[in-house]
Amino acid sequence: MLENHIVVIFGASGDLTRRKLLPALASLHAQRLLPERFAVLGVGRTPLDDASFRQEMASALPRFAAHLPAEAAAFVPLLHYQSIDTGDPAAYEQVKQRVYGLCAELGIPHNCLFYLSTPPDLYPKISACLAASDLNTSGDGWKRLVVEKPFGRDLASARELNRQLLAEWREDQLYRIDHYLGKETVQNLLVFRFANEIFDSLWNHRYVDYVEITSAESLGVERRAGYFDGSGIVRDMVQNHLLQVLAMVAIDPPGNFDATSVRYETLKVFQSLRTLQDADLARSVVLGQYAASSVRGQEMAAYRAEPGIPAGSRADTFAAMRLFLDHHRWFDVPFYLRVGKRLPTRVTEVVVHFRKTPHPAFGVRGGAEAQQNHLIIRIQPDEGILLQFGLKEPGAGFHVKPVSMDFHYSDLADTRVPESYERLLLDCMSGDATLYAMGEAVEKCWSFIDPVIAWRESGEAPLFGYPAGSWGPREADALIEADGHFWRYPCQNLASGGEYCEL
Ligand code: BG6
Repeated sequence: MLENHIVVIFGASGDLTRRKLLPALASLHAQRLLPERFAVLGVGRTPLDDASFRQEMASALPRFAAHLPAEAAAFVPLLHYQSIDTGDPAAYEQVKQRVYGLCAELGIPHNCLFYLSTPPDLYPKISACLAASDLNTSGDGWKRLVVEKPFGRDLASARELNRQLLAEWREDQLYRIDHYLGKETVQNLLVFRFANEIFDSLWNHRYVDYVEITSAESLGVERRAGYFDGSGIVRDMVQNHLLQVLAMVAIDPPGNFDATSVRYETLKVFQSLRTLQDADLARSVVLGQYAASSVRGQEMAAYRAEPGIPAGSRADTFAAMRLFLDHHRWFDVPFYLRVGKRLPTRVTEVVVHFRKTPHPAFGVRGGAEAQQNHLIIRIQPDEGILLQFGLKEPGAGFHVKPVSMDFHYSDLADTRVPESYERLLLDCMSGDATLYAMGEAVEKCWSFIDPVIAWRESGEAPLFGYPAGSWGPREADALIEADGHFWRYPCQNLASGGEYCEL
């Protein structure tokens, strides 16, 4: 049972609040998972009062939480708003008065979860101002601080942010969020591996040939030009989401499924990332940017022609990389990451390619790839798992035909795969940090990514063009094919695949 508390969201009039945070809270409310006495205080620069904030959020809910019943509107009266200049330390007294006032109305201790969903350059300021108003102390109730991504833009800035936060807050009060860890299917990687001995015992360099992790989006940069162009996809997606998925694939079994053990094992994966340097970079990393094209009759603009993007931008909208873990379990097993905007479809999946049988006694239809077992763990959409194996083709001879067994979450009657923010908010409310990143882990990810970013920013890294709506530059195929390996070309539907599948 959760303790009664208040959630205070900084950046309350922003996109994340309306698209993700409030829909997640409304959904928890509809499932009766919130505490009995609970309120949300939105804080932002936009001048709104409780009534206008409620009205805005009430009109956003049906758009961003379409699964919720009409009764979900009962959540809206729990919302409150305080407009302040977040850069002015004196203004935090108003936040304090509102928080204390709400707690008094509800008759609850000063338990508070502060959520930083503002532009990241405000994180140090807000966290310090909260502390200066004593809103970081636990004496009269617990205080937790959730920090949205991006957590820094390189190792130095991430270290500095950790230093600034830790000057006023204890590590156990800090929740560094990566919404990929809140995805049911990412968490299932742990259960799938450690609750199924048949897979766990094969999960190492003796049986695994290589692993692919793909996260594709069909959308372009949308309305986030300012942020994205200063970031690029390596910072935006690889440093955090893809490395977290990699950690869940590669992690050793933790002694317990508590925050300390899981996060410690995750850190070990990041510590084992083999640094990419000098010549490795050109051999192991392909960066790309989408060019104009026409997809299924629709004209797609080049990245550089998107609103707000400078004409000569060299931001990466695609990245493919080969990496290794210096780790007994994964000795010499390549992990290939592929991520991009304006790819043919939106899909995130992990493909584990098992080694070929030592002696190919049978004729296999379908080429070299068909001689291997593949396990596809679909993170989104059509969430599920598919195992490919060889079967004797009925009839004369002993020809092997690749077939598959698949499981789709949608087959579980009455089960909705919850939004990642629901799970993560609920965990933080109950003080469980298992699915949140430790400061040291975030720094390790940056120290792996920093050389890639420095290479890109030095201007030495080639930036390959690819037509919007394609699977990225040809060089990304060359990267994996140089090792005798192949990308899977996923479709929306887990069971389909192949370069020319219907999207
Ligand atoms: C965000 C990135 O963290 O994740 C976005 O900033 C990206 O660029 C998004 O589109 C992808 O999240 P999801 O959950 O839709 O895969």
